[in-house]
Amino acid sequence: MLIVSKAVVRIEPTGVVRRAHHSYMGPDPSGASLRKADFAMSSMPLANEHETEGQAAETGSPTSAQPHYNEPMPEDAPQVYAHTGALIAGEAPDFPTFLFSQKELSRSVGVFKEGFGGLLTYAVKCNPSPHIIKQLQREGLKAFDVASNTEMELIRDHAPGAAMHYNNPIKNKREIQRAYDEFGVRSFTIDHIQQLDQLAAVVSPSKDVEVTVRFKAGKAAKSYDFGTKFGVLESGAVEIATMVQDMGYTPSLCFHVGSQCEDVYAYERHIAAAARIATESGIELKRLNLGGGYPAPYPTSEAPPMNYYFETIESAVQENFGGSKPELIIEPGRALVTSSTSLLLRVKHQRGGVSVYLNDGAYGSLMEVKFMHFTPPVRVFRGAREHSEDQFEGFTIFGPTCDSYDVLPQTFMLPWDIDEDDWIEFGLMGAYTQASLTPFNGFDRRDQYFVETVYTGLDQQPEEWVQSEAV
Ligand SMILES: Cc1ncc(COP(=O)(O)O)c(C=O)c1O
Repeated sequence: MLIVSKAVVRIEPTGVVRRAHHSYMGPDPSGASLRKADFAMSSMPLANEHETEGQAAETGSPTSAQPHYNEPMPEDAPQVYAHTGALIAGEAPDFPTFLFSQKELSRSVGVFKEGFGGLLTYAVKCNPSPHIIKQLQREGLKAFDVASNTEMELIRDHAPGAAMHYNNPIKNKREIQRAYDEFGVRSFTIDHIQQLDQLAAVVSPSKDVEVTVRFKAGKAAKSYDFGTKFGVLESGAVEIATMVQDMGYTPSLCFHVGSQCEDVYAYERHIAAAARIATESGIELKRLNLGGGYPAPYPTSEAPPMNYYFETIESAVQENFGGSKPELIIEPGRALVTSSTSLLLRVKHQRGGVSVYLNDGAYGSLMEVKFMHFTPPVRVFRGAREHSEDQFEGFTIFGPTCDSYDVLPQTFMLPWDIDEDDWIEFGLMGAYTQASLTPFNGFDRRDQYFVETVYTGLDQQPEEWVQSEAV
């Protein structure tokens, strides 16, 4: 009889992460059916790390917690599994599970640090998990784009001292007041003249307060279109920016070309528009915020490599602003965090060799796969080994809820004999997944572990087989 007791991380639909204590009792801790979950909720802000006490010795045990990347070792270092196979051997996760790699996040932050010369910030909405916020601060980020008072609390708690840019144009006076008084926010984005009145009613004009006017300059060829909800047209931006300066605030400009923007020239067009707005309004433009939108490398993406984006931005700024360049900011979400996290789901039911029903779906971690048709890379595990048959068939993927909406629009090529209790791992799942979980139908539990090497589907060697019992 082996008794294993440990704390794991549980992500609530609100993004709140709780420690959950599980007790295992039985001869084989890898058997999911033996698991006895006993949730002792704690209101501690957490989720940054996964802790294990009395880890089962005879199953695939985690590697040592020494990260191999270039950052100071966090004091509260998590335990790290080598890869997905080791995690399955050790945990046999029966609930939807996110696998996070600090090393991979560090790599993608490095791409931006190397390629972009201005201020790199992070759009918290994309993945508000505390372990991500904390690591980004350790990687040197000094500011975060926040959309709500709750995101401000997150930054205050997990990246203390960082600046916050309140870049959601939609906010009421109470939220503005809290941002200013309680969280020390001094940078606000607006896209309508009435929002200037709203702001001025709460925050007195001062050069210490930056007011950024969000404008739009046409739709990007391939991306989410944010322009239907946000951004004022060029002529309106000239008017608002002039008022911002005349009232005594510090004026800046920003745009967002839309998420997963595969049209690199959309940035060029918006930078040219920003220069025209600055000239026509005669403002002393403090900063130009180039927003987010930088693409993730989904297999279906037609985006050019990231260096095209950096080069296009640099030459557009040079060409349009010449010697009077404003300070530059970017606030990526997706391109920073997508590859850091994969998602391991389990097959609950297979039907007719054409459909699989998983333990999460459109009401949870696959919401964006459903909405936006981004198709992540997938692979299948049978026990701790990757199950790669010669013959693949097209399958429709359903989620676990009682709603017929809970089905993905894509056909996924999976091993023909995929069956109940196999796992499907989706790569590139760090963006807009943990941010938008729901508890619909009682499917409210998601777990999270750290891995050294995370599955991305991109030029990766197959996992080395780890010595462990098959589960
Ligand atoms: C104001 C703002 N900035 C940045 C982002 C991040 O965009 P992405 O994840 O596409 O980089 C968003 C996303 O909605 C946003 O609304």
